[in-house]
Amino acid sequence: MREEARAAAGRVDEARLWQRHMEMARIGAIPGGGVNRAALSAEDIAARQLLLAWAAQRGFSVSVDGIGNLFVRRAGSDANAAPIMTGSHMDSQPSGGRFDGIYGVLAGLEALEAMEEAGVATRRPVELVAWTNEEGGRFPPCTMGSMVYTGARPLADVLEVTDNDGIKLRDALAATLAATPNARERAFNAPAAGYIEAHIEQGPLLEKARKTIGVVTGIQGLRWFNIEVSGETAHAGTTPLGLRKDALRDAIAIIEALREHAHDFADVTRFTVGRMLVSPNSPNSVANHVLFSVDLRHPDPAKIRALGEAVAPLARKAAKFCEVKVTPTLADDPCVFDAGVTGAIESAAQELSLPYMRLASGASHDAMYMARVCPTGMIFVPCEKGISHNVAENAQPADLAAGARVLTAALIELANN
Ligand code: GLV
Ligand code: MN
Ligand code: MN
Repeated sequence: MREEARAAAGRVDEARLWQRHMEMARIGAIPGGGVNRAALSAEDIAARQLLLAWAAQRGFSVSVDGIGNLFVRRAGSDANAAPIMTGSHMDSQPSGGRFDGIYGVLAGLEALEAMEEAGVATRRPVELVAWTNEEGGRFPPCTMGSMVYTGARPLADVLEVTDNDGIKLRDALAATLAATPNARERAFNAPAAGYIEAHIEQGPLLEKARKTIGVVTGIQGLRWFNIEVSGETAHAGTTPLGLRKDALRDAIAIIEALREHAHDFADVTRFTVGRMLVSPNSPNSVANHVLFSVDLRHPDPAKIRALGEAVAPLARKAAKFCEVKVTPTLADDPCVFDAGVTGAIESAAQELSLPYMRLASGASHDAMYMARVCPTGMIFVPCEKGISHNVAENAQPADLAAGARVLTAALIELANN
């Protein structure tokens, strides 16, 4: 490891990093110690403004693209060199924790701070990105900011997505962009020489193995759908069951059919229905419309493809009384991270004498999309009992700092290539 990489890693400030997590956790704080910081909400805007205030203290330049991804850049010595990027997201689940996403943003900022304090000059710029709407909890699908940034889906395609209150992403995005008027406008998909994302593991493996650093090998595949069931509303007391077009009854039948299809004895396939909108949503009216989400995941490319392809025919077959519309909203095949970036992360952990292991990610991340456009890798740190997407999500300050040290050293190595 270069001396400057070791020196900068040594300047990672555990107390500052923890303090910043606690400050961010106040934005959208909810009972139980968690956060609700929906994408493009007032809370998301407040988090962006706080990040930009910290960036301004160091004089880093900031820019924003058309979907609100925020970029904080520390200049390199070669003005023409493509940057090495790092980052994650600041939005949260509705009942989310204090570390999912925000850790990767604050660890990236900490890496930039540590480089400043160690007086390290890198050849390439190092750029921190806070991706818009990674969670997809308010505006499905997840990893939207990186998906649009990398050109996997055009911006126009997502502008009409609505949240549970009928608010359009177009309008929430306009309000968010208006709140950071001083950020320079930036084009999508500017050349990048590499990307490293730090994240809490969101699973129990590191804690169980007593390892501080996870060197992430890749991310499993996903398929997301919106399924809409349309029937007819009627009086709950007077309408015979045989005459009903009960959308909720059919929705339940579809969910059961899909659950059965997704079942595997090894418990590798992940199947989740986590969002359901029922109309008119009244105890004594038969439901005339139900919209629900399906989230399927598997690490094997052929398996996730087959699981996804079966959804629409199975849903149509299971519905007995109503019309069914199936809309795919996300189709990501499993990704394998770059050997060079993974190697740089592993070497940094070794050189810093931190216990590490290789592991695959069950959760999805913006690194999935960045892996399509540049050499990409991820660093995991342990979280308590693997709990995530839950207010009880917790992590240790020393582990967060260790991950930020590995990140700092690996970024410097890559930024001098
Ligand atoms: C991101 O939170 C995911 O759904 O994996
Ligand atoms: Mn996350
Ligand atoms: Mn998440």
